[in-house]
Amino acid sequence: MKKLGILVSGQGSNMTAILNACEQGYLQAEVEVVISSNPDAKALTKAKERKIDAISFNETTNKNPEVLDTSICEVLYEHKVDLVLLAGFMKKIGPKVLSIFEGSILNIHPSLLPKYGGQGLYGINVHRAVIGAGEKKSGATIHLVNSDYDKGTILAQKSVIVDADDTPESLAAKVLEVEHVLYVETVKKIIEGNIIL
Ligand code: GAR
Repeated sequence: MKKLGILVSGQGSNMTAILNACEQGYLQAEVEVVISSNPDAKALTKAKERKIDAISFNETTNKNPEVLDTSICEVLYEHKVDLVLLAGFMKKIGPKVLSIFEGSILNIHPSLLPKYGGQGLYGINVHRAVIGAGEKKSGATIHLVNSDYDKGTILAQKSVIVDADDTPESLAAKVLEVEHVLYVETVKKIIEGNIIL
């Protein structure tokens, strides 16, 4: 069984998809810990309801990138995590976490990277930018995390059609649906050795 650590900041629908797949035995993995940068994240409540070790950091920790980096690193290390999954985590991964876990950290991003990635492009901002640019196609990307925002090796992508009447919100919902499947399938391929990190 692979040990997973999931990092979240928001509603945690990708986290839930991973948790469900583990519970149903579809993934030979166990979520050891959920870490949130946001103490009010819905994802935290959902993880606690499922009796997962769920840890959140407060404003003071969050405001100091070095302290946040060390705190995340310690928690992941203590839980002996094999794979770190960023699932709507809105903070930058620091050098300490990278020094131990680089190559085993995955992120899901709501666009077809390298398009619409980088600092400031996250969550609904991505979908606003995609619609603003008149794109006919968008999607989701799973990539390895390194020290550059959204620049690590791309492991998987899936596209969706952007319809003429799509709003950022409707596009976000469409992309999320694809994300849930893509994340589970990519983690499965990694666990089963069909993607080598
Ligand atoms: C997802 O769309 C994810 O791709 C995006 O935030 C959303 C989180 O949803 N992540 C980023 O923008 C990171 N750059 P969730 O909390 O329901 O999983």
